Amino acid sequence: MSEKVRLFIGNIFHSPEKLQVQLLEGGFVAVKDRKIIAVGDADALKNELNRFENEYDVEKVTLKASQVLVPGFVDTHIHAPQYPNCGLGYDKTLLDWLNLYTFELERKYRDLELAEKVFDSVVKKSIEHGTTTACYFGSLFADATIVLADAVEKYGQRALVGKINMTQCTFDDYRETEQESLDNTIRFVENVLSRKNDLVQPIITPRFALSVDIEHMTKLSEIAKTYDLHIQSHVSENKDEIALIHDIYDLPYAEVYDKANILTKKTVLAHGIYLSDDELKLILERDTAISHCPDSNTCIKSGLCDVRRFMECGIKVGLGTDISGGFSPSIRQAMKSALDVSIHISFNRDNYEPLTYKDVFYLATLGGAEALAMDDKIGNFEPGKEFDALIIDVDIKDGQIDYLIDCSPWEVLQKFIYSGDDRNILEVYVSGRKLKG
Ligand code: GUN
Ligand code: FE
Repeated sequence: MSEKVRLFIGNIFHSPEKLQVQLLEGGFVAVKDRKIIAVGDADALKNELNRFENEYDVEKVTLKASQVLVPGFVDTHIHAPQYPNCGLGYDKTLLDWLNLYTFELERKYRDLELAEKVFDSVVKKSIEHGTTTACYFGSLFADATIVLADAVEKYGQRALVGKINMTQCTFDDYRETEQESLDNTIRFVENVLSRKNDLVQPIITPRFALSVDIEHMTKLSEIAKTYDLHIQSHVSENKDEIALIHDIYDLPYAEVYDKANILTKKTVLAHGIYLSDDELKLILERDTAISHCPDSNTCIKSGLCDVRRFMECGIKVGLGTDISGGFSPSIRQAMKSALDVSIHISFNRDNYEPLTYKDVFYLATLGGAEALAMDDKIGNFEPGKEFDALIIDVDIKDGQIDYLIDCSPWEVLQKFIYSGDDRNILEVYVSGRKLKG
């Protein structure tokens, strides 16, 4: 018996390199088990098809003209426990929103039945919307965050999952002592690392510099170093928040994190709207990434983030839904909002080129993989990488739009980004395994 290979044949988009988008018209991606073994255009397919059919047991998946194959989306910043709050509290700004809505909800996750119910829903929804890799903020509570890792594992998503660290909070019952914070983090990390499933990995998650001090963050960075882990946090999101950071530390925001050794090449910081040029230089030097969360920046009125500025100075950038600062679990929605914000910025600046649909496609796929330091494994259809992919179709009965005239492949992609939704995502694959469709 020869080995099985799946051949996806049709119009294929991916970013072969930073900021580039390539169309393989009538091309193919060949997948064996978890991995991509070959990729090419229509000519390469003609040359290779015989060889594949002689060597392997080939199963063909042939796409229609209204369909495209794209790499899976990467959500570089999502708070799983906040999912029930999507759409709520947007008459507030960050600090009030945290106190009145967010901590109020998050402190309920001592209740593991609530955790199971919410995490089951949010992971399923995230996959339905095409997120093949998610970088989750979990709960302060290690046990609830273990339930989140269980849900991710159950549904087959690729994810970084973090137990939040907070030793300071306006709620007495929603913080840990320093010792609890360290012990529970190690317990959580070891629980996740002991699993056979390599798709789920722990991430060290100091919430932000208002909930943990430099000394504690330094200890967390040591845990990250010992276990070679990713790190995530928030930075420079809101003007009132930044004023408090300056009052407490008398340092620029990014330098607070640098002092605590948490700016690493495996660190992703959400927002960064008000970072100075010097802070960007520091972040670039440390090879740290930024998660651009345009919906959250708008909903809780944090500001207009000039993500092109980060990209131009060479900082790794991905997109984040930032549920529930953002209202939607969809990275397609984040792509659309990243376009909107960039266009709005351009109205007030001379010679400012707003992002294009190709730019946000890159940010949602390879950009996200780079931001999570996973671009050796995922992000595009390079042979040797794992097959995380979506089949998108803009000609469906129950969608938001009708497909009345034929579209070119580039137009199919544009239609999806601007007017599509989860119903247009027919199939979702993670590590070669079909999770939807
Ligand atoms: N800063 C600290 N915590 C949070 C959070 O949960 N959401 C957002 N958007 N910003 C934060
Ligand atoms: Fe956030």
